[in-house]
Amino acid sequence: MRVLIASSIAPQAMDDLAREHELVLAVGASEHELAEAIAGSHALVFRSGVDISAGVLDRADSLRLVIRAGSGYDNIDLARLATMKLRVVRIPGPGATAVAELAFAMMLSLARNLQWADREWRAGHWVKSQANGRLLTGRVLGIVGAGNIGRRTGALGSAWGMDVLGCVERPNSTIDRALAADGIRCTTFDDVISNSDFVSVHVPLQESTRNLIDADAIASMRRGSILVNLSRGGVVDETALRDALLSGHLAGAGLDVHAHEGDGRISPLADLEQVVLTPHIGASTLDSQAEIGRLIVECLRHPVPDDELLPGLPANFTVI
Ligand code: MLT
Repeated sequence: MRVLIASSIAPQAMDDLAREHELVLAVGASEHELAEAIAGSHALVFRSGVDISAGVLDRADSLRLVIRAGSGYDNIDLARLATMKLRVVRIPGPGATAVAELAFAMMLSLARNLQWADREWRAGHWVKSQANGRLLTGRVLGIVGAGNIGRRTGALGSAWGMDVLGCVERPNSTIDRALAADGIRCTTFDDVISNSDFVSVHVPLQESTRNLIDADAIASMRRGSILVNLSRGGVVDETALRDALLSGHLAGAGLDVHAHEGDGRISPLADLEQVVLTPHIGASTLDSQAEIGRLIVECLRHPVPDDELLPGLPANFTVI
C-alpha cells in the first residue's frame, strides 16, 4: 500500500510501516505539497497541526483509508470527505489518558504556583514565606465536555477528593449514570461554568463550540478560579481570557491548545505569569504514541474491502 504520513508518529511504527508499505513522508508539507503527495496514495495518516483541506482531498484519486491518529477531526474538510467513499479510522483512546493527566498537571502547577517557585529558587530567592498556593482537594472541578477525555479528567478529580461537575452537549439518563459512576455530576454548562473553582475544557471544535468560553462565560466564572483548555484553541476567546487574568477575575489559566499554533507563533498570553502554556502536547506521551503507532500498523495490515468503503461522514468513522 502507498501510505501518506502527514504528521509525525512513533518511530517504531514508522519502522514497522516502512517494512510493509511504500511510505510517502509529508510532515510539515504545504497544502500544495500535500495535494501532490496524496495523489496515488491508498492511505493517509495524520494528527493535529496539518490541514487536510478540500483542495488536498480533491487530489486523492486512490484513497481508501484515512487514519486520524488521535481524537479531533476539526482539521479535515468534513464536507469534502462526505462526498468520498473510504474508510475513516480514529484512534482517540490512547491519547485520552495523557490529555487528562496534563490537565491535572496544569491545575496542580497553577494551584501551587510551581512555575514561579521554581523560577525564584533557581535565581536564589527563598520565597517560602510568600507561598500562597491552594489545594485541589475539596474544591469544585467543572468539566466542560465530559466525553472520552473530559470524563477521565473528571475521574481523576474525583479520586483527588474534588467535587466534580460535568456537562455534555446532549445529556440523557444513560450518560448521567455513566458519569456518576466516575464521580461526576452531570449538569448544565452554566452550572459548570459558574460554580467551579477549576474549569477544564474538553469539547471538540465545531460550530456550536467555537468561542464557547467567551467573555460572558468567563465573566460568569467564580472570581479567583482557574481555567485549563486542552481541547482546541478556537473554543476559548484568548482576548477575553487575557482581560480576565489581568483584572484578577481569574487566578490562572493553562492552555495546551491555541488560536494560532506552530513554529514562530507567540501566544497573546505569553507575558502573563499566572499562565502555563504548552505546545499542543496533551496526547504526546511516549506510551500513548507507541500505542497509537501500534494500532496504525495493525490497521494498515488489513486491506479495506470495497463493501466497507462508505461516505466519509462522522457517523461512519470507525473508532479503534
Ligand atoms: C488529538 O486530537 O488527538 C490531539 O490533538 C493530539 C494530536 O493529534 O496531536
